[in-house]
Amino acid sequence: IRSALTDGPLVGKQVLVTSGPTHEPIDPVRYIANRSSGAQGAAIASALRDLGADVIFITGPAEVPPPTGVHVVQVQTARDMKEAVDAALPVDVAVFAAAVADWRMATPTTSKIKKKNGAMPDLKFTENPDILAAVSQLKKNRPQLVIGFAAETDDVIENATSKRDRKGCDWIVANDVRPETGIMGGSENAVTLISKDNADVWPRMDKTQVATKLAQRIAKAVTS
Ligand code: CTP
Ligand code: CA
Repeated sequence: IRSALTDGPLVGKQVLVTSGPTHEPIDPVRYIANRSSGAQGAAIASALRDLGADVIFITGPAEVPPPTGVHVVQVQTARDMKEAVDAALPVDVAVFAAAVADWRMATPTTSKIKKKNGAMPDLKFTENPDILAAVSQLKKNRPQLVIGFAAETDDVIENATSKRDRKGCDWIVANDVRPETGIMGGSENAVTLISKDNADVWPRMDKTQVATKLAQRIAKAVTS
């Protein structure tokens, strides 16, 4: 599918967006997941498409359908997502909105784990690759602008700022995902855009509005 738009500030720009949760199998019937609906990532991909970008949308098993007019790559696990991201490079801009599972089973079983007289299963985990950090630290093919998200429940700005520095992305979109905010799975988001030496607090608004505002910022940054 090609973008229908022939004008707009992002025409000719390749943009990658990761979105949704990942699912990490425990056994053939169970998996590790998280509460990401994929709504914010899908909205960002739509907004970038509307500005004329050629969008590659790499999504885990999300609740919301992928947008039209973008290249959709559907994945399950963090490792699948990393592979799809690597295959999509080079791009001009990369937005990492996915809620990637941090851990997977060290040794997923091919048979269903059965109860055994009250003995708990001995599940061993291993850490998934950090896709955002890997892309941010690329020596070759690093996108001009790399944007991460930081979903936090405590010390949001502090944690998000150190996350940006640690991973090496250019901007990080920080959000407070405490259950009482209703943001995880809801239609609104309240974010702070942390760039080089600036933290821009945006008021709570619809996820589609957050996406539009972010897409405009991206367009300004890559065309100026
Ligand atoms: N991310 C990623 N690959 C991972 C984990 C996270 O690409 N394996 C990306 C997310 O898409 C997001 C950013 O990194 O853009 C931050 O994700 P987050 O879960 O907040 O950060 P973590 O480094 O996993 O730290 P923690 O969950 O411990 O807060
Ligand atoms: Ca994480």
